Amino acid sequence: MHTLALVSQKGGAGKTTLALHLAVAAHRAGLQVAIADLDPQSSAWKWSERRKDHPEAVVTSAEQLDHVKAQGAAGGLDLLIIDSAPHADRPALVACKAADLILIPCRASILDIDAIGQTHDLTTIARKPSWVVFNACNTSTEFDLEEARAGLRERDVPVYPGAVYQRVSYARGFIPGRTAQEIEPGGRAASEIDHLFRWTADLMRLSLSQTDSIEAA
Ligand SMILES: Nc1ncnc2c1ncn2[C@@H]1O[C@H](COP(=O)(O)OP(=O)(O)OP(=O)(O)O)[C@@H](O)[C@H]1O
Ligand SMILES: [Mg+2]
Repeated sequence: MHTLALVSQKGGAGKTTLALHLAVAAHRAGLQVAIADLDPQSSAWKWSERRKDHPEAVVTSAEQLDHVKAQGAAGGLDLLIIDSAPHADRPALVACKAADLILIPCRASILDIDAIGQTHDLTTIARKPSWVVFNACNTSTEFDLEEARAGLRERDVPVYPGAVYQRVSYARGFIPGRTAQEIEPGGRAASEIDHLFRWTADLMRLSLSQTDSIEAA
């Protein structure tokens, strides 16, 4: 079983959004996937309650995470995705240590980029590979993504070469327990998530038995 963690000490960066969209992408690609919701707000779990379908989310805590992982592996899961809470050093470190790969969602603003160091330090302490993923980027902004990527790379912070843009479908899908690629198949959000998922799966060496999602849409 592989474990992917979405971690960012900054609130509202897009941890839950990316965790749920990647989980649905993995499910649609034929993987057995579940979400471990480490956030006391339980947003991922509430989404899964509305969804009443795979992939499921379980509420857990830093103390229980090893147990949830062991149960998932014993139950034949291919992938466990951990959605973590903001402003929580120890649980975030536990999530980092439990992961094979960590994605750090980051809004494309200088304030968010300046705050990345704290989260990146946790991934370094955990000695796990981590990548910043720029999320909720504004297509019409002055903000130069390339410049931001280069600035982070100079600080030895790896950055996902793609980007996830600000799109209403990301939030709208959550209301009925769905995701953007389900409510708007073939849309831009679906394509962004497909790209991020394939890139992540490649890094994790996940073998994808079925690829029904974007290209086929
Ligand atoms: N790419 C996007 N496009 C549009 N809205 C987005 C996008 N990413 C996130 N959002 C919205 O921003 C808000 C925060 O996102 P989300 O809950 O995923 O962040 P989070 O990091 O999990 O927050 P928290 O730290 O509170 O757990 C939500 O309302 C979500 O719908
Ligand atoms: Mg969240």
